Amino acid sequence: MTRSQDPIFRRKVPVIVIRMTPSRTRITKAVIPAAGLGTRFLPATKATPKEMLPVVDKPAIQYVVEEAATAGLSDVLMVTGRNKRPLEDHFDRNYELEEALDRKGDESRLARVQESSDLATMHYVRQGDPKGLGHAVLCAAPHVGDQPFAVLLGDDLIDPRDPLLQRMIEVREQHGGSVIALMEVDPAQIGLYGCAAAVPDGDDDVVLVSDLVEKPDPADAPSNLAIIGRYVLDPAVFEVLRTTEPGRGGEIQLTDALQALAADPDLGGPVHGVVFKGRRYDTGDRGDYLRAIVRLACEREDLGPEFRAWLRSFVSEEM
Ligand code: UTP
Repeated sequence: MTRSQDPIFRRKVPVIVIRMTPSRTRITKAVIPAAGLGTRFLPATKATPKEMLPVVDKPAIQYVVEEAATAGLSDVLMVTGRNKRPLEDHFDRNYELEEALDRKGDESRLARVQESSDLATMHYVRQGDPKGLGHAVLCAAPHVGDQPFAVLLGDDLIDPRDPLLQRMIEVREQHGGSVIALMEVDPAQIGLYGCAAAVPDGDDDVVLVSDLVEKPDPADAPSNLAIIGRYVLDPAVFEVLRTTEPGRGGEIQLTDALQALAADPDLGGPVHGVVFKGRRYDTGDRGDYLRAIVRLACEREDLGPEFRAWLRSFVSEEM
């Protein structure tokens, strides 16, 4: 299908616009893109979305939905692709399993099974072709309408003890426009990320973004501030995405649309960044996935003591 035939680029959302000061509009909706191919994790992701891979005993995506719910975002739209069934089933009730656990009197497991279906009001939209993160976000336009909204990447795990999204929502309330999450990385690694040129703006952890580049050559990178998978976006991003041409890798890049917003604040307000210093894991990367599991398992009250003891002896024998 050509771009001009794809309804997502042509669709205008019929909305009655009651304009409030943008920064005062309360954010209630979260969009979670989970339609990528997950090629770094093949063959595990041949028939299973990478967001369903377990991190200890919960799929990675459940941590992300829990994070949205904790930040007060009770309306969650998941952008899914092929193999979407496991994602939908996980956040739905499973009456057969619940009845079986109930009959056995296994209340703690019953509660664990029910947790995921009680977290938020879940909605799903299908991204027919994985044409990039920007295209996945554009698929959310009819659901989101003319309100600011959050985007949480389904394979990016932020430690629940280091809240980031709430802080980003505060910054949006203060400045309007859009807010991205940034993390300082080793300059040699910046080519793996989107990268921001930014200057301090008031608070220690807040910067004003002037330029964004997707996966720059480290020699040309404007900073070592990498974009990580949390965004609070002004709905103006949809209009920009509709005209954003495929960029790096032939994909429609969210970074390119944000770059256009940062370059012209008249389009949809400024773009700020919150510099995050907490714990974050890219569960789409095999090394980071393993680190996430080891760290979270070590910290669990039920599993941690035994696992840490085993890990200590494993490390002393193997290293
Ligand atoms: P990634 O850049 O990690 O791409 O996407 P990917 O295709 O999933 O993984 P690899 O690189 O092939 O291993 C970041 C997030 O954006 C979503 C992914 O599901 C992931 O949560 N995404 C990406 C979409 O929803 N649609 C797309 O077209 C691309």
